[in-house]
Amino acid sequence: WVNDQLDLPAKGKRIVVTAGGNLEAIDPVRFIGNRSSGKMGFRLAEAAAKRGAEVDLIYGNVSVSLPRDARIHLHPALLSAQAMLEKLEELFPAADALLMAAAVSDWRPKEAADHKLKKQAGVEEMTLQLVKNPDLLKTMAQKKRPDQVVIGFAAETNDLLANASRKLAEKGADLIVANDVSGDAFGGDEDQVTILEQGKELDPWPRMSKQAVADRLIELTLARLAEKKN
Ligand code: CTP
Ligand code: CA
Repeated sequence: WVNDQLDLPAKGKRIVVTAGGNLEAIDPVRFIGNRSSGKMGFRLAEAAAKRGAEVDLIYGNVSVSLPRDARIHLHPALLSAQAMLEKLEELFPAADALLMAAAVSDWRPKEAADHKLKKQAGVEEMTLQLVKNPDLLKTMAQKKRPDQVVIGFAAETNDLLANASRKLAEKGADLIVANDVSGDAFGGDEDQVTILEQGKELDPWPRMSKQAVADRLIELTLARLAEKKN
């Protein structure tokens, strides 16, 4: 207990974490979603809380149980990317750091029907029109104060580092965590990530548990925060 009190490097910090995927409504009973489990975001929230930070955890659709910790404040944004954006607009200004682990839906149905869509005799094909969602990470990074740290993720099945470097350049995040999702990353307990930062060498981390990745990412976040204060 005494050690806990002494060893709280994130005490006084407020960290926003997003986790899980969005469910974009097609009609009252159907949606478009993705395979994000929420696990990485939840491990990040726990890693930050364990170090003494107050954590605002904004989560969408998840398939694992929610973290329980007095320092983790839960903000469900279960459905749309838009709902997640509204929570971010509310919570990011008071935060020291943002970690965007959520798999934000890139698209949403142009119109969500207000009744269950029915099949029709003789109709064998149907087209769903989608419109682009806002980029939450980019939107928040544009509003970032000099003392805030913003971390994004890049989920790729191919050309991992080329795609991730493009995201680093385009999104305005301090750091991108590149993650190969061609294997068992979704719902799995382990990850192999590479850290990309402006003006720094690529930093490939060994394969390790998501909890270990989360611990290291929070340490890195705290280190970058400390540098900003100087
Ligand atoms: N992201 C976001 N808002 C979106 C899409 C993505 O905030 N509308 C964030 C994710 O939370 C993640 C980062 O941007 O931190 C990268 O997400 P990813 O899906 O890998 O990249 P995209 O920019 O969406 O590009 P694409 O899916 O085409 O690879
Ligand atoms: Ca995407």
